Amino acid sequence: MSDWVKFYDFKHSVIYVNARHRDVHYRAIAEDIRAYVPSPNAHVLDYGCGEATSAGLVADACTQLVLVEAAPNVRASLAMRFAGNSKVAVIAAEQAAALPKASFDLIVMHSVAQYLTQAELDRLLAMFRALLKPAGRFILGDIVPPTLAAPAAALSLLRFAAANGFFWAAAFGLVRIFTSDYLRLKKTAGLSHYSEAAALERLRQAGFKAERAARNIGHNQWRMTFLCRIA
Ligand SMILES: C[S@@+](CC[C@H](N)C(=O)[O-])C[C@H]1O[C@@H](n2cnc3c(N)ncnc32)[C@H](O)[C@@H]1O
Repeated sequence: MSDWVKFYDFKHSVIYVNARHRDVHYRAIAEDIRAYVPSPNAHVLDYGCGEATSAGLVADACTQLVLVEAAPNVRASLAMRFAGNSKVAVIAAEQAAALPKASFDLIVMHSVAQYLTQAELDRLLAMFRALLKPAGRFILGDIVPPTLAAPAAALSLLRFAAANGFFWAAAFGLVRIFTSDYLRLKKTAGLSHYSEAAALERLRQAGFKAERAARNIGHNQWRMTFLCRIA
């Protein structure tokens, strides 16, 4: 398990300042992903879904939703949460490669690429290309640009918090995040950043036609989402 996966393997990650933050965050993500579901018959894969507390909204809009999560405790809590939802399957990261080829209409990987080396990202892009139906769409979300990433993340969180009634919790939460293992891991495990051109080049090399979406999935509009089809 990578150090970042261990960092995320809490029932409630320190990344979310409180349960309200976690729930409004995942609701916003689920609403944005749902808007990309092409039809009620769609098969959808969300890779690195995290706690995904609102994934039921995505499942309601499609036929099958496969949630892939590498962190075992997070995965156990997802499996419990969606045990009664026959449209949702929860699997480990290493099981994703064994899924049937060309079987998904929509694949999303949101806010995961920054925790991967470039080689790991390339390997996953190749896997997504193989799992996608010929007319399917792959969405790479929350790509962190090389400049001003930390202030933009803090400001976006405070704005999101103010709009959702947890501003002071977010302000204290930021202090907690910056005194947690996050900064140490940023130095030791590293975070990957991509400019728009660099992300498009990675996607092109992986065999995708890609374009930047007008807005990023979720609340941080400094980061970027890319919409991709098989080239
Ligand atoms: C910030 S969370 C994103 C969760 C969700 N997609 C969202 O947008 O809120 C980062 C996720 O990346 C996953 N992750 C980090 N490193 C990974 C790796 N090497 N392989 C697979 N997943 C990884 C973590 O387990 C965690 O679920």
